[in-house]
Amino acid sequence: MPGLVTTDVEVAAARLRAGGLVAIPTETVYGLGADADNAAALARLYAVKGRPGEHPVIVHVGAPAQLGEWAADVPVAARRLADVLWPGPLTLVVRRAARVLDGVTGGGDTVGVRVPDQPVALALLDAFGGGIAAPSANRFGHVSPTTAEDVQDELGDDVDVVLDGGPCTVGVESTIVDCTGEKLVILRPGGVTRERVEEVSGRSVAVRGDGLTRAPGTLKSHYTPEATVLVVDREDLAARATALRAAGQRVAVLAPGSVPALAADVVVLDAPADSDEYARVLYARLREVDRRGVDVLLAVPPPDSGVGIAVGDRLRRAAGLDQGGT
Ligand code: TXA
Ligand code: MG
Repeated sequence: MPGLVTTDVEVAAARLRAGGLVAIPTETVYGLGADADNAAALARLYAVKGRPGEHPVIVHVGAPAQLGEWAADVPVAARRLADVLWPGPLTLVVRRAARVLDGVTGGGDTVGVRVPDQPVALALLDAFGGGIAAPSANRFGHVSPTTAEDVQDELGDDVDVVLDGGPCTVGVESTIVDCTGEKLVILRPGGVTRERVEEVSGRSVAVRGDGLTRAPGTLKSHYTPEATVLVVDREDLAARATALRAAGQRVAVLAPGSVPALAADVVVLDAPADSDEYARVLYARLREVDRRGVDVLLAVPPPDSGVGIAVGDRLRRAAGLDQGGT
């Protein structure tokens, strides 16, 4: 029996209180939620996700004021970012308060916190009262789900309740900002740009270099469909598709805006020219690639600005390329 799909936040809150796993809608991607104060529920969350124990998960809270309940101290810059950009696709990493369970932090001394900008999620957080620990609701290393249906495909009856809040509006995961050091550092690009973080915090912001953190979303290979993903320039699409077809591969292309004429058996996936729209559909397209039995996806990233930076980051990671901090 697949997990129960509901739009009733009271049902979802009751399951969280009972130690259950509840998939929650957010503006970025769906999360696999557990009561952040329940060690047994957190242990099950890690098991279902297939995630190594030392990887931390984000705590979702209902209002910026709650940051202080999870942090040992709230740096001035973090407070500003929370007050201005929450609810929103931004996770703040701060030093953990003593009460925060190791099942949330992965045993580390920091915790990631965010207020999602999604009405159903906010209603759930209000009804539940506590913090909801939630990684993206996919198996470790796979593509994040952006609809309730994708969650069911991904997790089946390993999740107790799927709270359906409709499709995600941002489509890629939150920007993660480490606020624990001298300098603010972006650990993962997302829906909030570096420029916006600098503007709001009044501080200069660094972008993480290669492989320094334990954030799995920043591992070299992540967000991967079954198909091989190759990141290519638009000019090279036709030649690459031809060569792959000649080698007997079933090929798909994903490129913003129009694509050049290609052989009839190449699967052309619709990627909007607008980067916000591209981000919104990205994971659905990666899932479609596998549903259609494609061997190789040729993907052209959007321009390197705004949320396009996050889309390019996810595509390169899906391709197994290490792109450092951007
Ligand atoms: O948009 C999002 O952030 C979504 C939705 C569900 O909120 N969540 C999400 O969670 O993407 P997850 O676990 O798939 O990715 C969160 C990333 C991971 O790479 C994790 O290691 C990192 O955040 N992270 C969490 N807490 C951290 C911490 N204290 N220090 C450094 N990285 C942290
Ligand atoms: Mg994830």
